[in-house]
Amino acid sequence: MSGAETTQEPKLYHPSEATVAAAHVSGMEAYQKLCAEAEADYEGYWARLARDLISWKTPFTKVLNQDNAPFFKWFEDGTLNASYNCLDRNVERGLGDKTAIIFEADGGEVTKVTYSELLARTCRLANALKAQGVKKGDRVVIYISMSIDGVAAMQACARIGATHSVVFGGFSAQSLRDRIEDTQAKVIITADQQVRGGKSLPLKAIVDEALTLGGCDSAQKVLIVKRTGAEVGFNPERDVWMDDALAGQSDSCEPEWVEAEHPLFLLYTSGSTGKPKGVQHSTGGYLLHAALTTKWTFDLKADDVFWCTADIGWVTGHTYITYGPLALGGTEIVFEGVPTYPDAGRFWKMIQDHKVSIFYTAPTAIRSLIKAAEGNEAVHPKQYDLSSLRLLGSVGEPINPAAWEWYHQHVGGGRCPIVDTFWQTETGGHMITPLPGVTPMVPGSCTLPFPGIQAAVVDETGKEVPWGQGGILVVKKPWPSMIRTIWGDPERFKKSYYPEDFKGQLYLAGDGAIRDAKTGYFTITGRIDDVLNVSGHRMGTMEIESALVSCTELVAEAAVVGRPDDTTGEAICAFVVLKRPRPSGDEAKAIAKQLRDHISKEIGPIAKPKDIRFGDNLPKTRSGKIMRRLLRSVAKGEAVTQDTSTLENPAILEQLGQAY
Ligand code: PRX
Repeated sequence: MSGAETTQEPKLYHPSEATVAAAHVSGMEAYQKLCAEAEADYEGYWARLARDLISWKTPFTKVLNQDNAPFFKWFEDGTLNASYNCLDRNVERGLGDKTAIIFEADGGEVTKVTYSELLARTCRLANALKAQGVKKGDRVVIYISMSIDGVAAMQACARIGATHSVVFGGFSAQSLRDRIEDTQAKVIITADQQVRGGKSLPLKAIVDEALTLGGCDSAQKVLIVKRTGAEVGFNPERDVWMDDALAGQSDSCEPEWVEAEHPLFLLYTSGSTGKPKGVQHSTGGYLLHAALTTKWTFDLKADDVFWCTADIGWVTGHTYITYGPLALGGTEIVFEGVPTYPDAGRFWKMIQDHKVSIFYTAPTAIRSLIKAAEGNEAVHPKQYDLSSLRLLGSVGEPINPAAWEWYHQHVGGGRCPIVDTFWQTETGGHMITPLPGVTPMVPGSCTLPFPGIQAAVVDETGKEVPWGQGGILVVKKPWPSMIRTIWGDPERFKKSYYPEDFKGQLYLAGDGAIRDAKTGYFTITGRIDDVLNVSGHRMGTMEIESALVSCTELVAEAAVVGRPDDTTGEAICAFVVLKRPRPSGDEAKAIAKQLRDHISKEIGPIAKPKDIRFGDNLPKTRSGKIMRRLLRSVAKGEAVTQDTSTLENPAILEQLGQAY
């Protein structure tokens, strides 16, 4: 990196000549050539890449089918298998002995598996699933922590054409139940416990609880991986230890060749209304973009050690742990633990120990590690040898320029490009991002669309706004890895992503954005709906409100908003009207704790509000609508400057502004 050009506004960080020369996409001209290719022949462009990166059993002859828009189909007459592409193909190419996964457990134990071993393990698991009656098209819920078994379980589902739905280990029994019911999963794969930050936490017990909550009759079997050996409840008619299920299973399993549109997975994510939605992804288009973005954005090469710190319970873990790097025959880290255990130098130590060359994490983690390093020199990245790093990535939320600069300087030694990748569960892979050998970077900007992705900023009528003017982020053309539908709710899919306001023609991301007047670079300005981003986790305010009002003995009414937070990006702030007089002091604290515990039970600990404020009422218009915009000001501790004349009860704002 040549560093910042001080005369330029905004500050541009140029990739070094060596980075440009060695990159898969080398130089701005190469980028523009790809964009022009896509512009000139959109289908031809994606077809070329799909042939180049994916091994097809039956080659496709059709590329994009728009007949039933917005239910687009890609490569529909082609057949393939995702697990074949990620495993067998690498073994066939002579990479059988190459390390596929370096697993580091919470306590530091390291286990490595080669491509041949991972293939054998996946096949045995696939055969075990078949023996439990799982067939092509069935759903399997995976509720397990970061592990080789977790990756192998996903690959095993893909191998037999079962659709996996991974549920993050931090979700509660209730959330798990909802997902089991919605997917009608036949089998649940879990572990006795998970281990994080030196603590053992239950998994199987939560599955047991979920299955007692009703609506889970589809679930015939629970396969349990032994992680800690803790004693767990065992229902012999339903539960099977994974070791027993695997015993005697063959190491080979013929892949089930599926059509490109076959649902590879469902992943639940929060929207602005209702329950989390099951985002349905395809096999062919999804795998193409997973592989392509890993190749171009991360510039993955044969000798890289790639580390994406996301959990496999989120889309980032799907695309950049289970599928992308493996499809390219890469070597990757899978980490069970947390960044702060045994101390906040864990990430840096692991980069040093495993000679990680590409590191991909979330701004929240960076911000919390900055804080930790400021308080304790011993965990500062400078104490570690991070010279193996050549590329850094950021994902999940906007990265503030100060955190970007620190990441660049202290982790990347001033030499590593940072790819600030904007994308979503629904997009399957990167949408707007720098490419390391192409894009001069600006801290806080995700820069330019990935080649072939037609992103734009529009006004409420769908008309593009001039650069320099904020608006709504949309994607103008369908792309291969896009969401196919919301599982079981096609109408909601249409309404959420292809709204009538844009005549059903534009994909609505749900984010606001602005393009730099000079460079055209995109900066994401935050969600334009009632979705919060807390530590890079997406949370619907309505979901949290429903969880609060479901505490019927206490809560009369609740409204939830976000407020900016130095570490977590946004923090959840809940305003609550109780069915009893407004509490204060210790009593208020006790009730707030009770409500937090309740939310933890309903959704999971990640949804616990940071602030809970009690009021006799909520600010409402005369027609009874809660004025969230005012609540956002109150949550920030700002004086309310907006017009409150339409407010039924202006005095309430002062009351809600008071901490107890
Ligand atoms: O608001 C955007 C934010 O995260 C949302 C997507 O969340 P999720 O589906 O959970 O996927 C997260 C991992 C891809 C987006 O709508 N977001 C994601 N990446 C960025 C971002 N905001 C700003 N900059 C990013 N790089």
